[in-house]
Amino acid sequence: MSRTLGVLISGRGSNLEAILDAIAARRLDARVGVVVSNQADARGLERAEAAGVPTAVVSHKDYASREAFDEAVLARLNQHDVDVVCLAGFMRILSPVLVRAFSNRVLNIHPSLLPAFVGLHAQRQAVEHGVRVSGCTVHLVDEELDHGPILAQASVRVEESDSEESLSARILEQEHKLYPEAIQLILDGKVRIDGRKAVVQT
Ligand code: GRF
Repeated sequence: MSRTLGVLISGRGSNLEAILDAIAARRLDARVGVVVSNQADARGLERAEAAGVPTAVVSHKDYASREAFDEAVLARLNQHDVDVVCLAGFMRILSPVLVRAFSNRVLNIHPSLLPAFVGLHAQRQAVEHGVRVSGCTVHLVDEELDHGPILAQASVRVEESDSEESLSARILEQEHKLYPEAIQLILDGKVRIDGRKAVVQT
């Protein structure tokens, strides 16, 4: 039986769309049970609705603490029997409430080769630093920002002529391939956590 993903977004939702496309193309054996956004005007909500996926808006502004916000998100995920949570451009740092409820079952995609360039504007950080190679990382989420065990990475060459925008566009293409593949690894039970590391069994 295919498993249920909950996707958390804050904006554009192109990674959400890549996940939905991978499911439709049978490259990813899962279903998206619910898309939760903390922003009512997130474009990704329209993409979810177009695909017939239930959506929920949970605004962080309505909650006094991160924990209370996460409890409300958790309730939505549980309502839809979510097995694995995928952060896809979700601009909130998770509290232990969500991380512990879905221990080693929360994934994030970040537009750099972690542990380089954590936080906001990772592509701009890469251009400004003058690195020759950057890329994207899918990792398990722990209680530190952009920090948990790495599941998969893809590299992208950085050209002298690159701007933040041009590099972001090439990294995004790789994100859209990498995220569904990494989700499938988790769903297949191929990932074992060994201390700091995620070990993928082939
Ligand atoms: C992506 O670059 C992702 O790596 C980062 O936020 C961006 C989200 O884009 N975490 P989208 O909303 O999936 O289009």
